[in-house]
Amino acid sequence: MSPETTGPAAVIVLAAGAGTRMKSRTPKILHEIGGRSMVGHALLAARSIEPRKLALVVRHERDRVAEHVAALDADALIVDQDEVPGTGRAVEVALSALDAQADVTGTVVVTYGDVPLLTGELLGELVAAHEDEGNAVTVLTAVLDDATGYGRILRAEDGTVTGIREHKDASDAERSIREINSGIYAFDAAVLRTALAKVTTDNAQGEMYLTDVLGLARDAGGRVAAVVTEDRWQVEGANDRIQLSALGAEHNRRIVESWMRAGVTVVDPSTTWIDSTVTLDEDVRLLPNTQLHGTTTVARDAVVGPDTTLTDVKVGEGAKVTRTHGSGSTIGAKASVGPFTYLRPGTVLGETGKIGAFYETKNVTIGRGSKLSHLGYAGDAEIGEDTNIGCGNITANYDGEKKHRTVIGSGVRTGSNTVFVAPVTVGDGAYSGAGAIIRKDVPAGALALSVASQRNAEGWVIANRPGTASADLAQNAQATASASTSPESPATTEEGTQA
Ligand code: UD1
Ligand code: MG
Repeated sequence: MSPETTGPAAVIVLAAGAGTRMKSRTPKILHEIGGRSMVGHALLAARSIEPRKLALVVRHERDRVAEHVAALDADALIVDQDEVPGTGRAVEVALSALDAQADVTGTVVVTYGDVPLLTGELLGELVAAHEDEGNAVTVLTAVLDDATGYGRILRAEDGTVTGIREHKDASDAERSIREINSGIYAFDAAVLRTALAKVTTDNAQGEMYLTDVLGLARDAGGRVAAVVTEDRWQVEGANDRIQLSALGAEHNRRIVESWMRAGVTVVDPSTTWIDSTVTLDEDVRLLPNTQLHGTTTVARDAVVGPDTTLTDVKVGEGAKVTRTHGSGSTIGAKASVGPFTYLRPGTVLGETGKIGAFYETKNVTIGRGSKLSHLGYAGDAEIGEDTNIGCGNITANYDGEKKHRTVIGSGVRTGSNTVFVAPVTVGDGAYSGAGAIIRKDVPAGALALSVASQRNAEGWVIANRPGTASADLAQNAQATASASTSPESPATTEEGTQA
């Protein structure tokens, strides 16, 4: 963080809860939406308001959460909550850990690790309102049709916020209040520190409630206020898998919409899934049932889909990718892939190149204009420019123990069903015959043939399959042929080449 940062003094992200309703061996906040863990979303929102310090409170599955967070945000301070339960205690341990580095003064923001749609913009509005109004506490609230389970916002006749009542502690009248506590707040650090020292566990859940700070701050003469958001999704947490999928769908709807605003055509938004880490250029077209994950990028005028899943794939300008499953690959400008193509990591297809139907590729560099049009496997290989790989070609790269490389030059033409037994090199401009098994290097410009000459046993079917439809048809064909063939043109019995 740069010293001239003007954001709040600190953000504290609460993430010590158990998340039992997920019924998962994965800690709740490590579950993902839009290709990013929930805590990853929380950290991004927190960082975007440029706090001078950031702390995250852990307890349940502490080590897994800490490791995940450290990988995402090395500067986040991980703070362990002790056995005293409650959001108040969580904030208290975080604040004293931050104070131990240097006394915190100014605005302290508290958020949760399981509220993935919260944006930095809304957090920024909360902080701005808090600081502009000179509040001791500002709470982010929303008005819900069903407020069951949430803490309710208590207001005086004149509308000033007087406190928060937890659902379990609330009277029937209080339970009818529909304005809820999101659990996201801006506090003045000194007010927070003093009030937390007075918070007890004397309530229905035997927990230290952070919500008690509001009443205590008011009693001490501080101004307490609320920022009400209209966007309930931004304050919604995921406690179970049903909420996780609802939040995931809404997150996706927002991402897809923002790409459409940026000039991307999305034919069917409801079946198009885009991770928050993906980048798209103007005039990209996404056809139905397309999923773009990870660091995937799609350049201008490219068309992706239908029925395509790409993870960490770079799609070049004007490329076409149809019914393809790809990862860790690069597709050059104006190249085409699919339909029914499986691109595995390390596939690099050059400009205007083609990987066609029913092809699997892995760790292969394919030069500009080269085509692998149908039915094959290319792995651990290098293919030059303007080479045409025939139908059904395979690089036999694995000898049962090790992988070997195949190197094929430029301007090569291979016959159908050629097998390259690696390690092997094929020179520029070489050809291979249909069914060739290439075990030895092929020099530039040579035609490689490896299949034995064809022998036809004339009359075999009539002699060995008498009475079958094939034999009858053969008999007819022979009769027709002998009627029209002159005696000086005998039947060919051997073929010279099979190219
Ligand atoms: C809390 C609020 C409630 C609010 C609701 C919004 C309190 C007392 N109540 O309710 O007013 O409407 O959030 O969702 O604050 N956590 C810890 N340590 C703990 C307990 C919780 O870090 O000891 C973390 C959890 O991981 C979670 C967050 O704090 O991220 C909220 O905890 P949770 O138990 O879900 O909150 P509620 O009690 O439902
Ligand atoms: Mg609770």
